[in-house]
Amino acid sequence: MSRLVASTSVLSFAVASLAATGLSVAADAPGRTQPPSTIVPATAKEAAPAADRIARGRYLVDTGGCGDCHTPLTIGKNGPEPDATRLLSGHPESLKMPPAPKLPAGPWLAVVSATNTAWSGPWGVSFTANLTPDTGTGLGSWSAQQFADTMRTGKHLGVGREILPPMPIPAYKNFNDADLDAIFAYLQSIPVVKNRVPAPLPPAAAAKK
Ligand code: HEC
Repeated sequence: MSRLVASTSVLSFAVASLAATGLSVAADAPGRTQPPSTIVPATAKEAAPAADRIARGRYLVDTGGCGDCHTPLTIGKNGPEPDATRLLSGHPESLKMPPAPKLPAGPWLAVVSATNTAWSGPWGVSFTANLTPDTGTGLGSWSAQQFADTMRTGKHLGVGREILPPMPIPAYKNFNDADLDAIFAYLQSIPVVKNRVPAPLPPAAAAKK
C-alpha cells in the first residue's frame, strides 16, 4: 500500500502548487539577482569535488521525490513501480493520453495517469518534463544557472512560461544555491533518455475535448 501513501503526498503537492500559482509565485520568488545563499558559502560549493556534488544531488533528488512524478510508473511483479529504464525522463511520448475524465462538482480536484506523469486539473493538463541530459528533449543544453533560475522563479529557464502544477515550485524554490548546483550535476550524470514530452494543454482545450 506504499504506493497509495505516495500518491496522497503527491496530491498534496498538487494542491499546494495550485494554491501558489499565478501572481503570487512571481511576486515572492527570489529573482535572478538575489545574492548567493548564505546557508552554504560559495567557497564550500566550489571546493566540493564533482563526485561529492553528484552524490549530494542524487540524495536531494531521492529525498525531494523528483522521481515520484518524473519517472514513469510501470506495472511490475508487485504492482506499479518506477521504470528504471526511464529514470527521470518524464511523461513517455509513446503514451498518448485520451481526454481526461471530467470530474463531477465536488471536492475532487485532479486526475493523474497510471504512470504518475500526466496530470489534469483546473490548470489544464500537464506532463512531467524530461530531466535527463538529452540535448534535444531533456536538460542537455541547459546551464546550471538556467536550471537554478527555473527552480527559483517557477518559469521555464527563468524567463519563459509559468511552470504548472503539480511541480512543487513553492517548496523547491527554497533549495539553496549549493543544493540546486548539486541537483543539476546529478541530473546531468544520469543516462540520456530521448523522450519528447508533449506540451501542456490549457484548461479550455482540456474541457472542450
Ligand atoms: C508532484 C509532481 C512533481 C514532482 C515531485 C516534481 N516535479 Fe518537476 N515537474 C512536474 C510537472 C507536471 C512539470 C511540467 C509542468 C509544466 O509543463 O508546466 C514539471 C516540470 C519540471 C521542470 C521544468 C522543465 C522545463 O522545461 O521548464 C523542471 C526543471 C523540474 N520539473 C524539475 C524537478 C526536480 C529537480 C524535482 C525534484 C526536486 C521535481 N521536478 C519534482 C511535476 C513534478
